Amino acid sequence: MRYPIAPLFCRPWTLNGITPRLIESHYEHNYGGAVARLNAIAVELETLDPGATPPETISRLKRDELTALNSTLLHELYFASLGGDGRTLPGIVASAIARDFGSVDRWRQEYVALASALAGSSGWVLLTYVPRDRRLINQTASDHGENIVGGIPILALDMYEHAYQLEFGANAAAYVAAFMRNIDWNAVQARFDDASKVVPPRPLEQKQFAELPSITAEEIKAMLDSGTPVQIIDTRPKHYSTRAQDMMEGAIWRDPERVDEWIGELSKEKPVVTFCVYGFHIGCETAATLRKAGFDARYMAGGHYAWKAIKGPVKLFA
Ligand SMILES: [Fe+2]
Repeated sequence: MRYPIAPLFCRPWTLNGITPRLIESHYEHNYGGAVARLNAIAVELETLDPGATPPETISRLKRDELTALNSTLLHELYFASLGGDGRTLPGIVASAIARDFGSVDRWRQEYVALASALAGSSGWVLLTYVPRDRRLINQTASDHGENIVGGIPILALDMYEHAYQLEFGANAAAYVAAFMRNIDWNAVQARFDDASKVVPPRPLEQKQFAELPSITAEEIKAMLDSGTPVQIIDTRPKHYSTRAQDMMEGAIWRDPERVDEWIGELSKEKPVVTFCVYGFHIGCETAATLRKAGFDARYMAGGHYAWKAIKGPVKLFA
């Protein structure tokens, strides 16, 4: 693989307070340097014999490759972040930012704060879209290597000194202000558009229970915290429950194989939640049985361990 140089995305002569000289030097030396390093590492990796090379050597090369590749990608995004007036946010990206940060002003304050914190050191300030949560988040990435897994950066500010020292000296604040004045929000929105089409990681799919309503551990916790009446039944199988040490606070254990014996204890006036160890089968089957009998029943997704993972209160198993 040979990594090509991307043409400069922004038009340097249109920038306000950032000179073509600065962009040219940055593009040629720092971006060009990253691509050259990346290609040199790629050649080294292709030509070595992975079976006969010390693992530490391969590991070091792969780390260097990560650094050079991220530097390449982030520089391309940086040059593609410039070229606008910095002020006018088109509607879609403006409302996404307002939704995820409270307001555009709050977003700007946090973003600039992250940049200020990097004055005199080095790193990137990114606005990143996270498909898992379908939301935007600001982040700092030091050493080109701390990007959010699966995240798609749509705006990048380079806070390495090479990005500004030539024109701004040590005045990082003036450089950050100039960057903010030159953000190309139309380009950011176009990238946001593309990023939001990326589907989130596949959730757990349980085809046989697709029609069965579930509830999350967080939702149940909120119900309990607010005093909403709910009947919670721990239906972990008997062979499992004999070695269980704890159970969800507010739940009672009932043997899932003897539903007929305890179904009469339940009230049809209050919702019922069932759960098993991980939420795959027994809790679902019990909920389905209860629904057939006319109860407003659902199963807790993720089961006992999801409850533990959200730090829901537990009591000794009894
Ligand atoms: Fe740079």
